[in-house]
Amino acid sequence: MEVNLPVREPQGKMEKIVALCKRRGFIYPGSDIYGGLANTYDYGPLGVELLRNIKNLWWKNFVQERSDMVGLDAGIISHHRIWEASGHVAGFADAMIDCKNCKARMRADHLIEDYYEKEGERKSAEGLTPEEFDQIITDNPKLTCPNCAKREWTKVRKFNLLFPVQLGIVEGEGGHGYLRGETAQGIFVNFKNVIDSSRVRLPFGIAQIGKSFRNEITPGNSIFRTIEFEQGELEFFFDPKTTNWEDLFENWKKDILKFVVGHLGIREENLKWRAHTDLERSFYSKKTEDLEYKFPFGFKELWGLAYRTDYDLTQHMNFSKKDLTIMDPVTNEKITPHVIEPAVGINRLMLMVLVDAYHEEENRTVLKLNPNLSPYKIAVFPLLANKPELVDKARSIYDSLKPNFMTAWDDRGNIGKRYLSQDEAGTPWCVTVDFQTLEDDTVTVRDRDSATQERIKISEIQEYINSKLQ
Ligand code: GAP
Repeated sequence: MEVNLPVREPQGKMEKIVALCKRRGFIYPGSDIYGGLANTYDYGPLGVELLRNIKNLWWKNFVQERSDMVGLDAGIISHHRIWEASGHVAGFADAMIDCKNCKARMRADHLIEDYYEKEGERKSAEGLTPEEFDQIITDNPKLTCPNCAKREWTKVRKFNLLFPVQLGIVEGEGGHGYLRGETAQGIFVNFKNVIDSSRVRLPFGIAQIGKSFRNEITPGNSIFRTIEFEQGELEFFFDPKTTNWEDLFENWKKDILKFVVGHLGIREENLKWRAHTDLERSFYSKKTEDLEYKFPFGFKELWGLAYRTDYDLTQHMNFSKKDLTIMDPVTNEKITPHVIEPAVGINRLMLMVLVDAYHEEENRTVLKLNPNLSPYKIAVFPLLANKPELVDKARSIYDSLKPNFMTAWDDRGNIGKRYLSQDEAGTPWCVTVDFQTLEDDTVTVRDRDSATQERIKISEIQEYINSKLQ
C-alpha cells in the first residue's frame, strides 16, 4: 500500500530536485506506467551516465590506484546458509508499527526519531527492542500517525528485510536462497578463493560494487532508501597483532572524506562523522561511524565505516566447516584476519551529488557537477539550424569528439535556451559553431559555472577538455 507520509523540511528543494530528475531523465519512479511500485526507481539517459561515472570513480580510487586491493563480483542469489551464518536470517529485521486507522505501516525507529526531531531533540532510536519502542509510544501521548494524525497504534513487531528466493521449478525441490542483503557476505565467502588464486598479503582489501536488496517500506526522499540499490563495499583484512585497528580506522576515515570532497566535489561543510551509540551498533562491531551528508531532509547516513572484527569469517568457518584462516608467512601461525569495512550506497552517493550540485540562480537552474561526473562533458551547437554550412561544420566537430567524450548535440531553439538546457543537465562546456568558425576554424566555448565564453581553435577543443578533467 502507498503511504503518503508528509515530506519533511526545509520544504521545496527536494521536490524541485525530484522534478528535475524526472523531467531531464536522471531518475524515474519504478514501474511508472502501472502506477509506480513503492521504493523502486529507474535511471534514465542522464542518470545512467552519472551513476556509472560515480561507480567508475569509486573503483578507480579504491581498487585501480591502490596496490593493496583486489576486486570481486559475487552472485546476487546466494545460499541460505550464508545468511544464517551472517546473522541476517535471525537478526536483519526492522521494527514496524501499523496505524490501525489508516493502515499505514512504518519503521518504529523513524517514527520516533521524527517525533523527537519535531520536539526539538535529535535522538537515535535504532537498535531498541519492540518492547522499548512500545514503552516510548506509551510515554509520549502526542505521538500520533504522521499520515492521518490519529493515535491508534498496533504493537511494534519485527519484519525481516531479506528477500527469499524459491529455487527450482517445483516448489520445495530446489531449496531456497536469498537475494543478498549486502554485498559484504560475497566477499567473506570468497575470501579463501581470493587468497588461493591471487598474490595478496595482509593487510589487503577485497572490493565489490553490486546490487543489494532489502524489503524497505519507508517511502519518500527519492532514491535515498530503496528496496534494490547498489553498494560499493570493501573488506580490509588485517592481522590485529601487527596492525593497530584504531590507526587503520582513522586512515579509512581520511580516505573516504578525500574521495567525497576531492573526487565527488562535495562541500565539506555539508558532511560530518557520527559515531554509533552502543545501542545502535551491531553486536559484532567494536566501532562504527557514519559519514553523514546534509540532505534537504536532514543530516543522514551516507557511508558506514565499521570494525567488524573476525566475526564474519569465524561464523562462516563454523557454519561451512571450511578453514578460512590464512598462514602467517613468518611465524607459520594460522590467522583469522579482522576487517574494517567502508560501505556506501552508490545511489545514495548519486542523490548527494545531485543535491550538492543543485543551484538556483537568477535566470537559471544549474547542476554544478564535478565535470568528471557530468553525464555529458560537452555539447555542440550550430548557431543556426537552417544554415547547412554551420550544421555540417558542427556535425564534424561532434563526430570527432564523440569517441572520446560523452558529447551532446542540440540544434533546437535559440542558443540561450540550449545553454539553459545543458545547465540543468550539468554539462560543463558548450561549443558553438558560428559564421566566424567558417572563416578561421575557431569556436566559442561557454563555461557552465561562470557562464563566460572564450574563443578557441577547433583543433584545441579536445586538449581544452582533457586539461580540465582530472
Ligand atoms: N555491509 C554493511 C552494510 O551493508 P549498511 O549501513 O546497512 O551496512 C551500507 O549499508 C550503506 O549502503 C549505507 O551507508 C547506505 O549508503 C547504503 N544503503 C543501505 N540501505 C540502503 C537502501 N535501502 N537504499 C539505498 N542505500 C542503502
